[in-house]
Formats: sequence, C-alpha cells, structure tokens
Amino acid sequence: MKRLEDMRARSARGGGAKRVEQQHAKGKLTARERIDLLLDEGSFTELDAFVGARHSDLVADEEQILGDGVVTGFGRIDGRIVYVFSQDFTVFGGSLAEAHAAKIVKVMDLALRNGAPIIGFNDSGGARIQEGVVSLGGYADIFLRNVMASGVIPQVSAIMGPCAGGAVYSPAITDFVAMVSDTSYMFVTGPNVVKTVTHEDVTQEELGGASVHARRSGVAHFETSDEVRCAALLRRLVSFIPSNNLDAAPLVPTDDPIDRQDAELDTLVPDQASKAYDMREVIRRVVDDGNTLEVHEGWAQNIICAFARLDGRSVGVVAQQPMVLAGVLDIDASIKAARFVRFCDAFNIPLVTFVDVPGFLPGTAQEHAGIIRNGAKLLYAYAEATVPKLTLITRKAYGGAYDVMSSKHLRGDYNVAWPSAEIAVMGPEGAVNILYGDELAKAKDPNARRAELVTEYTERYANPYVAAARGYLDDVIEPHKTRPRLIDALRALEHKRDANPKKKHGNIPL
Ligand code: HXC
Repeated sequence: MKRLEDMRARSARGGGAKRVEQQHAKGKLTARERIDLLLDEGSFTELDAFVGARHSDLVADEEQILGDGVVTGFGRIDGRIVYVFSQDFTVFGGSLAEAHAAKIVKVMDLALRNGAPIIGFNDSGGARIQEGVVSLGGYADIFLRNVMASGVIPQVSAIMGPCAGGAVYSPAITDFVAMVSDTSYMFVTGPNVVKTVTHEDVTQEELGGASVHARRSGVAHFETSDEVRCAALLRRLVSFIPSNNLDAAPLVPTDDPIDRQDAELDTLVPDQASKAYDMREVIRRVVDDGNTLEVHEGWAQNIICAFARLDGRSVGVVAQQPMVLAGVLDIDASIKAARFVRFCDAFNIPLVTFVDVPGFLPGTAQEHAGIIRNGAKLLYAYAEATVPKLTLITRKAYGGAYDVMSSKHLRGDYNVAWPSAEIAVMGPEGAVNILYGDELAKAKDPNARRAELVTEYTERYANPYVAAARGYLDDVIEPHKTRPRLIDALRALEHKRDANPKKKHGNIPL
C-alpha cells in the first residue's frame, strides 16, 4: 500500500510544485483541476497514471515523472459517460511523446468502442523534440483515430495554453474547438520559429490568440473569458449532443408550452425590405425557453449556427442574420454553416433553418477567393443531410441562396414562409434594371417608372405564394404560430428514415 501511495503521489505531482505555481500564476489550471471542473463531482476514473516516459535517457528512472505529461480516463457529465485526456504543461511543456501518445490513443479507442464523446484539454508545445520521429508517429496515431471517430462519436477540444504543431492539428479535426481569452493560443509554429523563418515579429496573441481564431480564422468555435467558464461551456455543449451517431441527444423536458404563440413575431420583420432586424430575437422567441448555444458566435456573423431545443429535443439552428452584411452568404458564412449542418446530420440532430438571404456576395474579392467552390459546400451539406429538415423563410430568399438554404428541392421536409417572404431570382430593383433597362432609359421620368415597375414586380414575384402554388412551400404561416407549427412538424418527423445512395464517400468541394 505504501508503494502504491508513493506512486500515486509521484504521478499527481506532474512537473513539480514550482511549475504548478508558474501555471497558476499565468491564470491557468493544472491538468487535473481542469478534469475536476469538467466532470460530475467524484466521477473521474484515471487510467495509466503510472506510465512513464519511454525515452530512457531523458531522466533517470527514479526521477521519472509518472503519467508522461497527460492525465487520461473517463467520467460523467450530467450522468453520461465521457472519455477525457488533459495535457500537463508542467511536464516537458505538455509535449507529446511515445507514452503520452499511447495514453491518448487508448482513451480514444475506448471512447470509440463504447460510443461516448472524447474531450481533450490541450496544453502542449507539440511533438516532444527529444523523442524525435517517435513523437511524430504518436501524433499520426492520434490523427488517424480522430478521423476514424469523426461522425461516430463527438470529439471536443479545449485549448488551454500555447498549443503548437501536432497539438493544433488534432483539435482541427475534432468537431468543436474551445479557447480561453489571453491564455490559450494555437499556431502551427510559435513566434520564435516564425521569427527565424519569416523574420516577422509577432506575439503569441497576435499569431494565434483566442480572439484571432474565434473571430478571424474560424479555427475556434467558442471563446470564453476563463477556464472555469470554458469547462461550464463544454458541459453545456455536451448536453445538446448525443453520445454517438446511433443515439439521440438527451431529451430535456421544458415548461415552455409547445403551443405557445408569440404576437411579437407578427411585427418583427420591418415593412421596408432594406431594414434590418435581429434574427436572434426570432430564434429566441421560437425555441424552448429562449435557450440557445451559439457555435462560432464571433466568426462569420452574417449567419447564425446554434444548438437549441424544440419540445425538449435538440435541434441545430441555421439562420441568416440580417443585421450583419444583410445576411448575405459569403465564403466564411458558407463554410461555417456547412460544417455545422454536417455535424448535426452525422449526429441525428434535426435542422431548423431560418432564411432571410439576399443572395451570395458578389464581387472580385469573393470570386477570386472561391465563393463558387465554398458556397457549394453549404449546398452540398444541406443536400446530403438526411435528418429532419425544417425551413422557415422570414423575408428574402433570392437566387441560388433560395436553393441552398434547405429548400424543398434539397429534401426539405417542412418548408414554410411568413407572409413577408420574398422568393425570386433576384430582388425587385436588380430585376427591374435588367428586364426594363431599355424602357427606363427612354422614360420621361425614369425614377417614377422604376418605382412603378418595382411595385409591379414585387406583387407578382416577390412573395411566398408563387412558391406555395408549386408546393415548394408546404404552407404560409402566421408568424405568431411559428413555434407550435415547427414543433408539430418535428413530432411528425420523429421516425424519419432517409438514406443516400451507397458509396465509399462523396466528394464535397473542399
Ligand atoms: C519538448 C518542450 C516543447 C517540445 C516546450 N517544451 N515545447 N519540450 N518538446 N515541443 C518545454 C520547454 O523546453 C520548457 O521546458 C517548457 O516546455 C515550457 O516551455 P516554454 O518555452 O518555457 O514556455 P512558453 O514560453 O509558454 O512557450 C510555449 C511554446 C514554446 C510556445 C509552446 O515552448 C514553443 O514554441 N515550443 C515549440 C513549439 C513547436 O514549434 N512545436 C512544434 C513541434 S513539431 P523547461 O524545462 O524549461 O520548463 C510538431 C509536428 C507534429 O508538433 C505533426 C504535425 C502535423
């Protein structure tokens, strides 16, 4: 027993008191403290605590730091099993070596075999330099498992310190990446290497801080102000998602009535087509208790992706945000929503799409950066999705964007519009200029004639009834009835089974 106690104490020590102190001084927690925050109290079972570094000439046997810089095991979140690993920056900067990698690989295999999410706290300088190619091999072993587990179990990465090299590529493959402001960083190589290679002087924050990745690059899905909030966010995220691709997400009963009507929705969309309104407000008024968890909240804000619940069931909400760039679809918005749609589809989470889209963003900047290829990702994602798909057009659904946004033609199950919807090839102004250019050039009062033609066009084409007459819309609904109507449809789709043709895999335009 004495020996066991000694071994446990050695393993728990990590890189020693001084380094733990340094870690705390930076506003960071230790690997074990993070696990404790994440999991239900007392639910953690540690594995492989006595594994030591394999690189024997690194340290003498008696000085071996047991655990090799990573704590692994399983525990529970709201009673549901999850597997975890948590890298210990106090041991060789959390760098990944043979034994360290083997421990992570073991919990990943267990998570996959047992159909439970895997959550990793990453705080690592990447491949351990002293172990050379063996460390690189360890990373490749992890990457392979990330890929094999993709779409089978949810994979979540929390970035808790300066993560470099392999320590960022594994998270990049996972479904969600969370970062902490001012203490977590992600880069392929750190500022020192950047300086050597490109002579660029850059801080860790500028190169790959949380704000860079949550707002500019889109690498991070979530940004929190501290580690405690990050752990709470991960627990909340897990509450919305199933344990694996064969399970349903947990049902969370609510007191919010399923037949709740909301008169405010009747006046939320401004009469003037060019005036913005907050789509978040629409979503909040429809979903259970107004409760949403936004993904990529700070990036590509012209589209909203959020988890929410209807009738206690998790749904993935995708919605244009008219308050940002008029809700236009651009490259970043397409990529953001495509990835979210694919996650929801892989994990049986129905999609609810709120449409108010003037079209794809035109211009050389977007064309040269590949809006065609990137916009096609969202089209592809919606088209291949077989989960229940509910679509509500609140206002504009113009051009290709009408097709893309979960239209009936892409196997939308319940497609409805508010009376304020405008569905057409393009907006009235643009259409009138193209169709009546000659007439307007010759008109005595071109502005008055244009106004007349715009009114005519709007009445004739820019309304929901042409689409409803074709059955492209299943109904035009009163806005205040949106919640009960969506819930009714969702219930009717409870046992939906749909499949795509058998194939090795599709070829999404990456
Ligand atoms: C071994 C490492 C290490 C590494 C850090 N340490 N990174 N030891 N291998 N990769 C050690 C340091 O020597 C130091 O040890 C301790 O960890 C803390 O590191 P510091 O540099 O003092 O901390 P900090 O100033 O916070 O900087 C953190 C850092 C920096 C930004 C991560 O250490 C760094 O740039 N490391 C190298 C990052 C990198 O380029 N990795 C890429 C590896 S290649 P002591 O004993 O002094 O406490 C890779 C490829 C994988 O990963 C395949 C990808 C496809």
